[in-house]
Amino acid sequence: MQTPRLEIRNIVRRFDGRRVVDDVSLTIQPGDVTCLLGPSGCGKSTTLRMIAGVDMQDEGEIYVDGKLICDTVFRVPPERRQIGLMFQDFALFPHLSVGDNVAFGLRDGKAEKRRRAGELLERVGLSRFIDDFPHQLSGGEQQRVALARALAPRPRIMLMDEPFSGLDNRLRDGIRDETLALLKEEGTSVLLVTHEPEEAMRMADEIALMRGGQIVQRGAPYNIYNRPVDKAAVAFFSDVNVLRGTVKGALTETPFGQFLAPGIPDGSEVDIVFRPQHIGLDFDRNGRGPNATELAGTPARGVVQRARFMGSESLVEYRMDFNGEVLKATVPNVFLPKPGTPMWLTVRRDRCFVFPA
Ligand SMILES: Nc1ncnc2c1ncn2[C@@H]1O[C@H](COP(=O)(O)OP(=O)(O)OP(=O)(O)O)[C@@H](O)[C@H]1O
Ligand SMILES: [Mg+2]
Repeated sequence: MQTPRLEIRNIVRRFDGRRVVDDVSLTIQPGDVTCLLGPSGCGKSTTLRMIAGVDMQDEGEIYVDGKLICDTVFRVPPERRQIGLMFQDFALFPHLSVGDNVAFGLRDGKAEKRRRAGELLERVGLSRFIDDFPHQLSGGEQQRVALARALAPRPRIMLMDEPFSGLDNRLRDGIRDETLALLKEEGTSVLLVTHEPEEAMRMADEIALMRGGQIVQRGAPYNIYNRPVDKAAVAFFSDVNVLRGTVKGALTETPFGQFLAPGIPDGSEVDIVFRPQHIGLDFDRNGRGPNATELAGTPARGVVQRARFMGSESLVEYRMDFNGEVLKATVPNVFLPKPGTPMWLTVRRDRCFVFPA
């Protein structure tokens, strides 16, 4: 196994007796982008601050390239960690030119500083601004200068805390992709904090899903999305529908037919969780729906409550006959049935998740 570029082991940070970061371990391989993804207040920034060295953990160790940089006694100061930082509030120095901003962290001679600044500005497409001042640039351009500044000293690791959240939506996607391309080119390992699943899916080689100070799941975006550990992990990425059932003989009987509940003891309650795009829809034919199949199970009837056009898809809410509750289905393109229309819904067995309730 390759020595990880960054490894944190059993990190704990307490504030007022509360374990805000609660036994977090994480490794990042050289050149990889890992996203620390989780809701507000779950401890993401606190974790990043300890790795940067601007805060110190109460327990645990941090290693870079296999070398200890911080435990609870020993501590390499932040400026000697070769870790680059880029935060939401990336504030460029207003009194320095763009070139001098980028060269700020370099200790080389004047000519070499200018060469490296020019090289990075070229890479972010802003070399023509080298002698301008930050206030002459747009928000997106300033963002790219901040990225160039953070990368100039060739950090081994780049820590980014919601670096794109100050940008407007359309600008953001482009800058994310450019940033990722540049980080990959430089071979920098990245730990990027975000609370937006789309951002994590777009950027990450690996996602570490964090909740309540702990990492609850780690994996490639595909695995996190398709093999979530619990209901909350499903719900973090999309709307969800939940059916409650009781297990008997490793099966749960529902109005949509039976679902497998392997390894869950008889009498336990389970939640059958599925995303809106995995509901199958059929029109009502004189009170009858499609036949049951193995993959789709038994259809259950619902009545359209509301249908909304969302651009690339439509979202339709159904009030179900069997319990009066609402299930949400998304359908690609335009599909806007009238409220009151009866329809039959099925749930794809290969796309639903069964968790102990
Ligand atoms: N210096 C501090 N003193 C006391 N409590 C703190 C301190 N820093 C952070 N906290 C608390 O620790 C918890 C985690 O904070 P943190 O900033 O790490 O969350 P986060 O995951 O980055 O959230 P967000 O997505 O909102 O930025 C919060 O409840 C916060 O109030
Ligand atoms: Mg934060």
